[in-house]
Amino acid sequence: MVKVITYGTFDLLHYGHIRLLERAKALGDYLIVGVTSDDYDKTRGKINSQQSLMERIKAVRDTGLADEIIVEEYEGQKIDDIRRLHVDIFTVGSDWEGYFDYLNEYCKVIYLQRTEGISSSKVRTDKRKLRVGLVGSAAFRTKFIHESQFVNGIEVVGICASQSGTVPEGEALFYTNDYEEFLKKVEAVYIISKPERHYADTKKALLAGKHVLCESPIAYTRDECQELYRIAAAKGLILMDAIKTAYSTAYERLILLAKTGKIGQIISVDAVCTSLRDGIALEGADLSQKWNSMCGWAPVALLPVFQIMGVKYIDKCFYTKFLDKEANIDSFTKIDFTYSTGVASIKVAKGAKAEGELIIAGTKGYIYVPAPWWKTDYFEVRFENPEDNRRFFYQLDGEGIRYEIAAFLKAVESGSNISYVSQEVSQAIVGVINDFNERMNMVEFF
Ligand code: CTP
Repeated sequence: MVKVITYGTFDLLHYGHIRLLERAKALGDYLIVGVTSDDYDKTRGKINSQQSLMERIKAVRDTGLADEIIVEEYEGQKIDDIRRLHVDIFTVGSDWEGYFDYLNEYCKVIYLQRTEGISSSKVRTDKRKLRVGLVGSAAFRTKFIHESQFVNGIEVVGICASQSGTVPEGEALFYTNDYEEFLKKVEAVYIISKPERHYADTKKALLAGKHVLCESPIAYTRDECQELYRIAAAKGLILMDAIKTAYSTAYERLILLAKTGKIGQIISVDAVCTSLRDGIALEGADLSQKWNSMCGWAPVALLPVFQIMGVKYIDKCFYTKFLDKEANIDSFTKIDFTYSTGVASIKVAKGAKAEGELIIAGTKGYIYVPAPWWKTDYFEVRFENPEDNRRFFYQLDGEGIRYEIAAFLKAVESGSNISYVSQEVSQAIVGVINDFNERMNMVEFF
């Protein structure tokens, strides 16, 4: 019996896939199809698959061409499979010509002519694209435009800002200062205006029937925040916090791991986020254009605190050094939280520097994420006995922004907010900003 094996993602199965499977099957008597896992695809930079692994497996099974289906989970697995399953022929489309010649050592390698004019990418991009507009003038507008190009099915069409800024070369975007006009031309908005404008900008967009991805905090007061979520729910719109860290695989996995009890009962979470790059402390800096340390960093630093310890803290205290109190610009803020089960603290600063690490301590061990933890691809779980320590690596592309955009698009398409930042956490973040702005329980130092 001649055994043949082939591999692929097989997203949105199309006739190019079917023709390949038919010819692969005809090469022998028994066809094994390896379907890539979602995680493995992510590490290969394929973040756009519309279907889950189970859906893709089902589609391959339904062709009736595969005698056996396996899941491809890691680099190098092909050699292992070929040996283990006693495969005689390995085959893939000619787009991989030469790439798998190293497998000749284990079996025969055949490249089959790829079917012209069709691919999963094409099927995905041929769908109508979601027209997104950007609101605000912050520097990472450009980053968002760049990262959106990695996501099929979304298109940045225009920018609404009082100051024009630069548009990446070759981009045909429209610019306007007129928000009402702008909203007529888009289906969704990404809001990166100054934090004090988030509520008004988001509310207008929701009332105009647009989906919103907004930099956190999405409002300045708890009431405003609740109102925004009420409008979004009533109109069936997506309202999502843009905190890119939430979408990094390493971060996502460490939160899940912490919740499994691996490090015992969690006693404390300490998160530090600082950066001097924004230059708020520089002589002559235009503070009216700057985000303070709290708005710039606290949403990120609070994320692990609220996701692990919960949002129901007993008490909290701010320790703040203001650079300009009138303008509400803090150069450094530390917040201590007390919970019935433990404590948490965050340190955020744009006018001071510290080691940007995250430590989650439990009764059996702790999770350590080195600086800068908010864009990490790596973490460690450490125990008393170093032999028990474990290290985890996950691919992170584009600081998580492209995953965030892909998640936003999926939420819009599915009509349900599968957001990684829950409404509860989003509201708790606004609550902290609210209390900071009211100087509640604050120790000021100079
Ligand atoms: N394939 C083919 N003809 C096509 C598309 C794919 O023969 N028009 C083959 C590929 O060469 C590969 C297998 O089908 O052997 C699975 O390919 P996959 O990467 O899953 O599909 P693509 O359509 O190429 O996906 P994408 O556009 O996301 O790269």
